[in-house]
Amino acid sequence: MKSRFLCALALAVIATQCAPRTDIIQDNVDNAKVQLKSLVEASEAGDTVRIPSTFKDGEIVYVPTDDWVSGFFAGTLWYMYELTGDEYWAEHARKHTEVLDSIQYLTWHHDVGFMIYDSYGNGLRLKNIDGYKDVIVNTAKSLSTRFRPKAGVIQSWNVDRGWQAERGWKCPVIIDNMMNLELLFKATEFTGDSTYAKIAVSHADQTMKNHYRPDYSTYHVVDYDPETGEVRGRCTAQGYADDSAWARGQAWSLYGFTVMYRFTGDAKYLERAEKVAEFLFNNPNMPEDLVPYWDFDCPDIPDTYRDVSSAAIIASALYELYGMTDNGSYKEKADKIIVSLSSPAYRAAQGTNGGFILMHSVGSIPHGSSIDVPLNYADYYLLEALVRKGNIEKGLAPVAE
Ligand code: GLY
Repeated sequence: MKSRFLCALALAVIATQCAPRTDIIQDNVDNAKVQLKSLVEASEAGDTVRIPSTFKDGEIVYVPTDDWVSGFFAGTLWYMYELTGDEYWAEHARKHTEVLDSIQYLTWHHDVGFMIYDSYGNGLRLKNIDGYKDVIVNTAKSLSTRFRPKAGVIQSWNVDRGWQAERGWKCPVIIDNMMNLELLFKATEFTGDSTYAKIAVSHADQTMKNHYRPDYSTYHVVDYDPETGEVRGRCTAQGYADDSAWARGQAWSLYGFTVMYRFTGDAKYLERAEKVAEFLFNNPNMPEDLVPYWDFDCPDIPDTYRDVSSAAIIASALYELYGMTDNGSYKEKADKIIVSLSSPAYRAAQGTNGGFILMHSVGSIPHGSSIDVPLNYADYYLLEALVRKGNIEKGLAPVAE
């Protein structure tokens, strides 16, 4: 009797050890396949390829090619190709990339780095497609037209139309602009022309000097005088208040200075990224599950919105930071964010959410736009984070060149 019990116990132990463990990367990829396939089908159902940005009132919202979020869906499909090796995703990624062809000549806002590097940049890296390098270089030229040499920065927004025209700014620069610099470094690498990298370094240095507070949180907007280079003011556009810490701005700040260290090897950028990480994770308003409220200083916390997009951006940046420092706490925190985002609290049930993966992001509360909805960039940075996590766990560098 006793030996039968021991035998059964041994079998149970073996069965537990041999049972397939749920791999969080694979689980997310399996889920994303279902969700994104339906989004691909919907976005390609008409006469032209459309760009899905969010899901509102039961409808997928599509954006024009010149919208700042236009490159994220293409990039998401490229990451699906990277995660699965399935040519289906490359084929559709290519379609969604090439609808953005004209953006290489866009000069009226700064977001072309996001738009073109997430789409053409990933396509070039993964498939080395003819012509993609030229698109990246042309985009860098377009972005460089916004460089204001006296202030040493790339102007983010024009001030002659829209809501930006009502703020009295001359040369507004938002912390988000750090995300456009990767494309400039790549353009220098492709052409040998150091102008682009020099613009990136100048912009980053001015941002380090003028955007930060003593606790390493950042203002959202710094307005410069483009004639004298003087700072005219510091304020917010998408945060709770001028002196508050808008969550996505802090996420862009962490990610942006991590990328600066990747391209320059200059320790001051790494130090800045680590200070931003300290701000984030020592903040008493950072929730236990590491999915930030939309603004760290919103007085309504905990009765206000989370911003899942910020969590996804932070996770992706932390994996790269871990690769640079070997500091295990960065990976632990990123892994914790991935666990949170993979839970039903934030990840949509299959067949819901318009095909987007994640729920509960915030576009801009002050503008009343995209509040507590899926956003295509939350999905993009989630998949990027999963690629990086997978690389680390295979013993590779998190960011593949
Ligand atoms: N760049 C705009 C945003 O983060 O909402």
